Amino acid sequence: MNKLRHMMNPLDFSVEELEELFDLAGEIEKDMDSYAHKCDGKILATCFYEPSTRTRLSFETAMLRLGGKTLGFADASNSSAAKGESVADTIRVISCFADICAMRHPKEGAPMVAATKSSIPVINAGDGGHQHPTQTLTDLLTIRSLYGKLGDFTIGLCGDLKFGRTVHSLINALSRYEGIRFIFISPKELRVPDYITEMLTQKNIPYEEVIKLEDVMPQLDFLYMTRVQKERFFNEEDYIRLKDFYILNKEKMAKAKVNMYILHPLPRVNEISVEIDDDPRAAYFKQVQYGLYVRMALILTLLNIK
Ligand code: CP
Repeated sequence: MNKLRHMMNPLDFSVEELEELFDLAGEIEKDMDSYAHKCDGKILATCFYEPSTRTRLSFETAMLRLGGKTLGFADASNSSAAKGESVADTIRVISCFADICAMRHPKEGAPMVAATKSSIPVINAGDGGHQHPTQTLTDLLTIRSLYGKLGDFTIGLCGDLKFGRTVHSLINALSRYEGIRFIFISPKELRVPDYITEMLTQKNIPYEEVIKLEDVMPQLDFLYMTRVQKERFFNEEDYIRLKDFYILNKEKMAKAKVNMYILHPLPRVNEISVEIDDDPRAAYFKQVQYGLYVRMALILTLLNIK
């Protein structure tokens, strides 16, 4: 019998396992039709206790394109969570219905609790401000596909580096590759957490923290923009003061390398002006497409389907 595996954190997979996953995603991209029946008879449950467009629909599309079926809830207020059911009990129930589950939850660690009680693979589809591993897989595959390798570049992460779980997941994952330099661009209130800079210092990985995007723009190979996470603020006044701190526009892009790529996990609010969307360096909608391929590859891998 195959060992039950979950995806809670991008570091759950070794660098070699991630390479295999990205190779499989690449094969799927080249010839999606030959994967159309790999999951015939399988069911994916999506249990989303927080709003989502991309992650939930990307998982559902991934399973449908593999020939499987989906069920689940997109609004926990319509589930028995509203009556007080625990995540631990819910996953035991879902395990009776589905073969694999993608779960998003506002509480950090909730998908991990579910995984400990589950008899099917559980994928963390985002837990509070903590981790968003499948967004990270998406980001890594996008970088690898556009740049040709995962290493030897300078990446600027800009915006809400305090609450942005995609940022925390991505820095963790990139810390395993060689030749990467991080530039953290944020107002001081939204600085990257200390545990992350401590991890980078411990591993001798170069990083700097700045406030002005324009000052570092010419150095960047990738610019990873993020929105200010309104839902994680305790105080609306602070959100309003900080929400438009960075707006990437043509003027700022004029300072960037001609081959720099702009990434964004999306949704975008105001932080990238729509005038940038037609710039060939804007890669954030391509990123969504890579997210589908990598989620297809992840479902196959966790279900141990060759
Ligand atoms: N990137 C991302 O997680 O988007 P959604 O919140 O729409 O799923």
